[in-house]
Amino acid sequence: MDETMAKALIRTEGLGRDYAMGDSIVHALRDVNLSIAAGEFVAIMGSSGSGKSTMMNLLGCLDTPTSGTYFLDGEDVSKLDTDTLASLRNRKIGFVFQGFNLLARTTALDNVQLPLMYGAFDRVERRRRAELALREVGLAERMDHHPAQLSGGQQQRVAIARALVNRPALILADEPTGALDSHTGLEIIAVFQRLNRAGMTVVVVTHEPDVARFAGRIVRFQDGRMLSDEAASAPDDAAVVLAAQAAPLPVPSGIAEAVG
Ligand SMILES: Nc1ncnc2c1ncn2[C@@H]1O[C@H](COP(=O)(O)OP(=O)(O)OP(=O)(O)O)[C@@H](O)[C@H]1O
Ligand SMILES: [Mg+2]
Repeated sequence: MDETMAKALIRTEGLGRDYAMGDSIVHALRDVNLSIAAGEFVAIMGSSGSGKSTMMNLLGCLDTPTSGTYFLDGEDVSKLDTDTLASLRNRKIGFVFQGFNLLARTTALDNVQLPLMYGAFDRVERRRRAELALREVGLAERMDHHPAQLSGGQQQRVAIARALVNRPALILADEPTGALDSHTGLEIIAVFQRLNRAGMTVVVVTHEPDVARFAGRIVRFQDGRMLSDEAASAPDDAAVVLAAQAAPLPVPSGIAEAVG
């Protein structure tokens, strides 16, 4: 194994996923060879039906491939049974979805603690970790709110805190800004960028070029195949874009004089 392979957090070889539909077979994913190193921020793009969610489900150990191999953190996980996959998933992967997927009758704090219920931590430690994760996404003041008492952007922050709380190796987000207005979406991307700079590996599926421009690498799918894989030389900084939007527009001097 050469050094680049040893460092890959994600490595797929000839990964494929077929679905049987009556008499026919849908090739949702075909022969995908993709390596992602720890610490990368990757955007996955492609038109509807191109295989993005199928790929994310495989990367997230929510599904197993029909063909090919998937190495997660050096371990071949393509043929593990569902229980082993579930435990691996809980330890190594945090998920963020378009629809937030929070429990409605449960506070932000309890939603975030949920992934810790299967672990070895006691009640005090679970609470401490959940509070820390909520603080990391800027929600220290909203811990006791229920999802209905939070804005869409705040709900997605709770979902990100929940994804973070187990300190996973990888965060997978499928259209995390799809249900948000563009400004709120940008705030969510800024959270991902901040986490990524702190060392978290982030893979985001998106339709929006306005989201992908903040990633370090863009992988495109078409008809179940990987179409392209490009590194961005200088991805935009979402925090900088947000700050520029918040700054008042400079008043042209002529107008300032007329008003003054
Ligand atoms: N459970 C399933 N059974 C049969 N076919 C499926 C199933 N899931 C997905 N497919 C098919 O596999 C292909 C890829 O679907 P996938 O959900 O990965 O696309 P996508 O790129 O995520 O699209 P979108 O942008 O609309 O979310 C599509 O043709 C879809 O119809
Ligand atoms: Mg999808």
